[in-house]
Amino acid sequence: MTQGVAVVGLQWGDEGKARVVDVLSEECDDAVRFQGGSNAGHTVVANGRKHVFHLVPAGILHPQVRAYIGGGVVVDPFELKKEVEEIGRNVPNVKERIKVAAGCHLVMPYHRSLDTIYENLKGDERIGTTGRGIGPCYADKALRHGIRAADLLEVSALRQRLETVLPIENALLEKIGGLPPLRFQELMDSLLSIGDWLRPLIADVPDLLRSALDSGRRVLFEGAQSVLLDVDYGTYPYVTSSNSCLTGLFAGAGVHPGRVGEVWGVTKAYCTRVGSGPFITELNGPEGERLRKDGDEYGATTGRPRRCGWLDIPAIRYAAETSAVTAVALTKIDVLGDYDVIRVCTSYRNENHRVYYNAPWRLAAIEPVYREFPGWKRGLQGVRRREDLPSQALAFLHFIEEQLRLPVKMVTFGAAREQTLRLG
Ligand code: IMO
Ligand code: MG
Repeated sequence: MTQGVAVVGLQWGDEGKARVVDVLSEECDDAVRFQGGSNAGHTVVANGRKHVFHLVPAGILHPQVRAYIGGGVVVDPFELKKEVEEIGRNVPNVKERIKVAAGCHLVMPYHRSLDTIYENLKGDERIGTTGRGIGPCYADKALRHGIRAADLLEVSALRQRLETVLPIENALLEKIGGLPPLRFQELMDSLLSIGDWLRPLIADVPDLLRSALDSGRRVLFEGAQSVLLDVDYGTYPYVTSSNSCLTGLFAGAGVHPGRVGEVWGVTKAYCTRVGSGPFITELNGPEGERLRKDGDEYGATTGRPRRCGWLDIPAIRYAAETSAVTAVALTKIDVLGDYDVIRVCTSYRNENHRVYYNAPWRLAAIEPVYREFPGWKRGLQGVRRREDLPSQALAFLHFIEEQLRLPVKMVTFGAAREQTLRLG
């Protein structure tokens, strides 16, 4: 395994990235989140216990792993504390093994309110955000009135910062949202108290990561969301507010691109999406409901039912190319086994101009062209090697490799760690 390994999603999130991270981090020394925030919901089932991660790198489940939250992540400190305590009930030394970059912007209570306010104002054009304050926090970062983890290190700096920022936020809450303003002292007090908890975790994460890589430690970078939700390369405006493709890693973790030698792209064997936006292979009606039920497709963060549809190869190929993916992990193939006919979209009809995934109105008239595969009609419980897979499943897998022009190096067929096959 090369020293720096990245895992990114190739759909609209929820591909099973954490399943893949859990397997790969067994061989790693460090695990890093580099973008997004608690909009992410990453589920790992280990030894019969379900763990859900929002901000903490999922690699922490392995006791040797040190975990880092890079400066590109927007951190809700109250959520982080809750999550660390929750995970800490079953996993040793969680707080002691996490560092948070001083440059992380903090998600504040007003960001959450503004997230809802903006969504409501957009009416039918709402994005369907997770309501975790992600967009307003990244907006404040760009507007240069964010509050960062570093500000918690110095009471006078924090006070000064909040004195500048809060009147702006309160004006938005009152004038746009019709909400009462937040009281300065109350917010200051709650930040000071969470600051006491967070302060020991704050560190120069880019420097620590450079040293880790220099000393030969293996570092796993855990993407959240996915290429098709990337603010630049995804289906804008129906995206999240960070660079969730590979490029987000370099700014978000603070490492040189040359340090990442392996990029795993994760895709389910079918597609899902939560929130609004184009979805070319979406199945409406009973077919979509069946996939949702069979795949248990409900959000880990918000519990929302996910939209379901067939695998969209052109979209996934675009995502893989955008993130320079070197290996594919194909998840949840067990869900499709019982189908008489499994469909895979290989191209589009009415595609009389270049497809721009980041200009979704160009996708409106497009219709998917499908290739059909038979289901394998048996469970995959005993599968340990490639040869144990039913021939129909192997044909499906080879077709995906050929279409993506990339090796499928991991297959998962259930939530448990054992239900994983490493290939190649
Ligand atoms: P993980 O890491 C799936 C979606 C939201 C919405 C859009 C913008 O678990 O794969 P935001 O709250 O980020 O402003 O919402 O992005 N979204 C996700 N969908 N998985 C996620 O994360 C997501 N994070 C955000 O549903 O459509
Ligand atoms: Mg998720």
